[in-house]
Amino acid sequence: MVRKLVVANQKGGVGKTAVAINLGAALVEQGRRVLLLDLDPQAGLTASLGIDPYTERRGMYALLTRQDVTPAQVTLHASDGLAVIPASLELAALESRLGTGQSAVFRLREALGRAALPFDYLIIDTPPSLGILTANALIAADEVLIAVQAQYLAMRGVRALLDTLGHVRRRLNPALALAGVLVTMYCPDSLHAREALEEIRTVFPGETFQTVIPDSEAVMESPVAGQSVLTYAPDDPAAQAYRALAREIMAHE
Ligand SMILES: Nc1ncnc2c1ncn2[C@@H]1O[C@H](COP(=O)(O)OP(=O)(O)O)[C@@H](O)[C@H]1O
Ligand SMILES: [Mg+2]
Repeated sequence: MVRKLVVANQKGGVGKTAVAINLGAALVEQGRRVLLLDLDPQAGLTASLGIDPYTERRGMYALLTRQDVTPAQVTLHASDGLAVIPASLELAALESRLGTGQSAVFRLREALGRAALPFDYLIIDTPPSLGILTANALIAADEVLIAVQAQYLAMRGVRALLDTLGHVRRRLNPALALAGVLVTMYCPDSLHAREALEEIRTVFPGETFQTVIPDSEAVMESPVAGQSVLTYAPDDPAAQAYRALAREIMAHE
């Protein structure tokens, strides 16, 4: 059965897109079939895989707005064995196109149900907001991975997101589970970061991934090469960490 995982946090710059790509690549390395879905109009995931969101016509917008389009028709094959449904800039206009009514937030779920999905994992990257696109992701997914930085104020954002998850579960997608809270861009030399990590583990016991993603230049550089850090710098500590994260997630298969 395909597991549908959404990477979320309404704060930008916390490493969501990097997690989606590199966790995906780590799962591919373990022989899993992975489809990445870019739901962010800024198209960071799409661009990081070397696909131009300005010229690519097939993609998420067509899937969400046209009943006759299947996921396979808008799936591209990117580097590192990853399949991707790219974002395009028109995705930003989706809210005004669809309105904010109830049916607008079920578009992705409905679209993914149009055909069998020949994948083991779907990983959905979301924009830094709790708008219609993130709602579509939370309603289509089975599990949420919350990416956070080890910073004191990060906790508040996580609480707001957990409130949203509670709301989605009660009203729209009762099956939605928390995969876990993942600390990204961790600097072990920083006392503040070490304290914040402790705090996160105390507040979310049993829900914080054992794996912590270290701060790493290679993670920042790899999108320039259009690939994941796993192939760009296979021995980098961050590449090792994404592999460990994949093992934690695969333990629940
Ligand atoms: N582990 C990491 N170490 C260093 N830089 C990172 C790491 N993860 C992400 N980044 C960088 O931080 C910035 C924001 O990351 P990104 O994944 O785009 O965040 P988000 O999707 O939450 O906005 C990007 O420049 C990215 O390359
Ligand atoms: Mg992003």
